[in-house]
Amino acid sequence: MQWGPTIRPTRAEINLLSVVENSRLVASWAGCDLVAVVKADAYGHGACEVAKELQMAQTVVGFAVSLVEEGIELRNAGITLPILVMGPSVSDAYAALVEFKLTPFLSDTRHIAPLAAAAKTASQVVGIHLKLDTGMGRLGIVVDELAQAVAQVDGSANLHLEGIGSHLACADVDDPSDVDSKTVRQLQVFRDATAPFAGRELKFHIANSDAIARFSAPPSELPKFAFARPGIALYGNGSRRSELAQSLRLVSEITQLRLVSEGETVSYGARWVAQRPTRVAIVPIGYADGLPRRSSGQATALIGQKACEIIGTISMDMIVVDVSDCAEVAIGDEVVLLGRQGQAQIRVWDVAKQAGISEYEVTCGISKRVPRVFVGSSSVGSSSVESSSVESSSDV
Ligand SMILES: Cc1ncc(COP(=O)(O)O)c(C=O)c1O
Repeated sequence: MQWGPTIRPTRAEINLLSVVENSRLVASWAGCDLVAVVKADAYGHGACEVAKELQMAQTVVGFAVSLVEEGIELRNAGITLPILVMGPSVSDAYAALVEFKLTPFLSDTRHIAPLAAAAKTASQVVGIHLKLDTGMGRLGIVVDELAQAVAQVDGSANLHLEGIGSHLACADVDDPSDVDSKTVRQLQVFRDATAPFAGRELKFHIANSDAIARFSAPPSELPKFAFARPGIALYGNGSRRSELAQSLRLVSEITQLRLVSEGETVSYGARWVAQRPTRVAIVPIGYADGLPRRSSGQATALIGQKACEIIGTISMDMIVVDVSDCAEVAIGDEVVLLGRQGQAQIRVWDVAKQAGISEYEVTCGISKRVPRVFVGSSSVGSSSVESSSVESSSDV
């Protein structure tokens, strides 16, 4: 949703160089190739720009999205690397999967026959991955039915089984030293279930960011899979955030300065009462932009590298910031809601904690009306990377 020139000074700055650097670090922890998870607009960071930058930097071997639509968007933006479509709804999209050379990560055997038929119609052989439920209890073929599913894929001349993967439920919370943890049990189920296929040229994959970040060392060491599927760590968040660079800055400006008298209240519900004459700044960003309303009363904003309290209830379109203790403030001064300002920084993690939500929800929640501005790209004007023909959909 862009109506034209940006008038409001509120924006999300995405540092593409930091995404690339994060991908290098994550790959070194994983010890294998990476398929970058860029679903949900790269967790709010801009999927096309992020994917183009990673493709150009050659730090990943493919991308993973949830929706077929997301895969098509990447193809239309010039992404030629393999794209794994992980989501549950591929129904009626078989022809599109084939046409756009997307690689389905199938979790339901009912999709095998119609996909094979669409591939046959297009005279193509489509590479697919099967998703195994090792304990997530959500998507995936159950262990007892894996052999049958593999046989079904093998039985189709128009399908080629490229890999088998699974997804971990507790990599972010399990204790890596607990050899009885859910994560370790899932890894074992995966190893046992895929053992009969170990002699085949299949790519096995299971690790998300926190599995890479937290289970890459003994005793719960991650087996060396063909590739890992990190999402959140690429954007500088997740359990090893302190070693990564947060790639997103949420920025606005002071548009008004006012004085609130002692005893006056600020914003909805009159929950904040001035205990002293208070100088406040009005900043045009609110919960409709993704600043969680639930963090009202706890959140801060950086002004002049100083953490200033956001006072009163966060409104749909604006916040009120107490700037009484800032030596000098003026209309037009930069206000940072997420990210760095000089030496000071607000982490996605801080806002997540204040609002009682996950880091994923903080960045995915930055709404469409906040323009994304891309900085740190290795190619000037990275958003204008020329579309090129799709080389291959296989070998994710
Ligand atoms: C199947 C699958 N793999 C990998 C990921 C990436 O997870 P993370 O962002 O925690 O690295 C996700 C994200 O939810 C996912 O659904």
